[in-house]
Amino acid sequence: MSDSTYTTIGVVGAGAMGSGIAQVAAQAKTRVILYDLQEDALNRASEQLQKILNRLEEKERISSAKEVFERIEFINTLDAFKEANLVIEAIIENLEVKQKVFQSLEKVVAQDCILASNTSSLSITSIAAACKHPERVLGIHFFNPAPLMALVEVIPAIQTRQGLGESMVALMKSWGKAPVLVKDTPGFIVNRVARPFYSEALRIYEEGLATKEFIDAALTQVGGFRMGPFTLMDYIGHDVNYVVTETVFQSFYQDPRYTPSLTQKRLLEAGWLGRKSGKGFFDYSEDFQLPTLDLSDEEVNKKAEEIVYRVVCMLINEAVDALYLGIANKEDLETAMTRGVNYPKGLLAWCNEWGSDFVLAKLDVLNQIYKEDRYRPSTMLREYGLLNKKF
Ligand SMILES: NC(=O)c1ccc[n+]([C@@H]2O[C@H](COP(=O)([O-])OP(=O)(O)OC[C@H]3O[C@@H](n4cnc5c(N)ncnc54)[C@H](O)[C@@H]3O)[C@@H](O)[C@H]2O)c1
Repeated sequence: MSDSTYTTIGVVGAGAMGSGIAQVAAQAKTRVILYDLQEDALNRASEQLQKILNRLEEKERISSAKEVFERIEFINTLDAFKEANLVIEAIIENLEVKQKVFQSLEKVVAQDCILASNTSSLSITSIAAACKHPERVLGIHFFNPAPLMALVEVIPAIQTRQGLGESMVALMKSWGKAPVLVKDTPGFIVNRVARPFYSEALRIYEEGLATKEFIDAALTQVGGFRMGPFTLMDYIGHDVNYVVTETVFQSFYQDPRYTPSLTQKRLLEAGWLGRKSGKGFFDYSEDFQLPTLDLSDEEVNKKAEEIVYRVVCMLINEAVDALYLGIANKEDLETAMTRGVNYPKGLLAWCNEWGSDFVLAKLDVLNQIYKEDRYRPSTMLREYGLLNKKF
């Protein structure tokens, strides 16, 4: 099928992700059928989308809000999906519920309709396994908010027919997105490779090497990240961020590289979820402002640099390991981290800039000090570092 074949898209679930995906497709001149079990979810999505599209029209980002909005039909029965060429599911993150929805979808959709899940953490293979025709099932993972975040991870399951991933990559490009192709492995690219940004920062904090304010300032001021890890965790919400870490950790058979943090777990237990609950690592009740570091102070600057080296070298190690294991190609790994989580540069480019020998040496020091498997360099990083090769 060519891109022009995907003229009618079904979306299951009209929540945060579903309505965002519907907006993206409608803005790409595609007819959208948006379905939800809950009438009020549909009403909310309809109101929200109208507001958002009107605002975009005012800002002259789209020519007609009405035209885009009219491409979306809000329905509470699956029957209308018989006209869809592609259905993207964006309901609650629960394998059994998703499998049931896919089975119901298969009863109504056309034989050549593609079925995709927007899951962040479940195995696409296990969703496909519940279907009669698993060869047409794959993952299409948008980031929140879908209309603003360019990255889309396209994840063929092991049962997915050859070439379908590439077709969906082409379709996502035609929708104006920056798609990457990823193997069906826990966390796909972003939620796997980004783990050390949070966990290494938490480790440094737990060990009392620096305050959370200092770590955040170091990573923004010296590292060039848009947000520090503690601010970002508060922004994402600990209910989401902690659960992703724990899922990745369990899915990788408790690999110590992904060990979750008890400090973060306590916040979750206390209901200090971050911005959305008014409190997390930081208190948002008053005008919250992170202190800035005086980098002209040599000692401060040195300490900030060491924090950046430690966190970024751990991130580079994850990216290199993902490359080594064939999770994605180099270009897609770079796209994922720059377009999905807005890193200032791709991690492989960062490694080239610092030198793979330098990054390997940093990890080897950590490995020597801690004697923990958490700091083991990827086999590929060791090889590249020893020969000082570039990616
Ligand atoms: N929120 C994020 O940041 C984010 C990012 C990427 C991916 N995801 C994934 O996207 C999916 C949806 O997340 P969300 O944040 O939009 O959730 P949400 O809670 O905002 O929306 C889910 C919607 O699905 C509906 N729903 C539940 N069960 C249904 C069913 N059986 N049939 C039809 N509709 C049903 C609910 O009524 C609700 O409106 C999840 O798999 C999540 O992991 C979320």
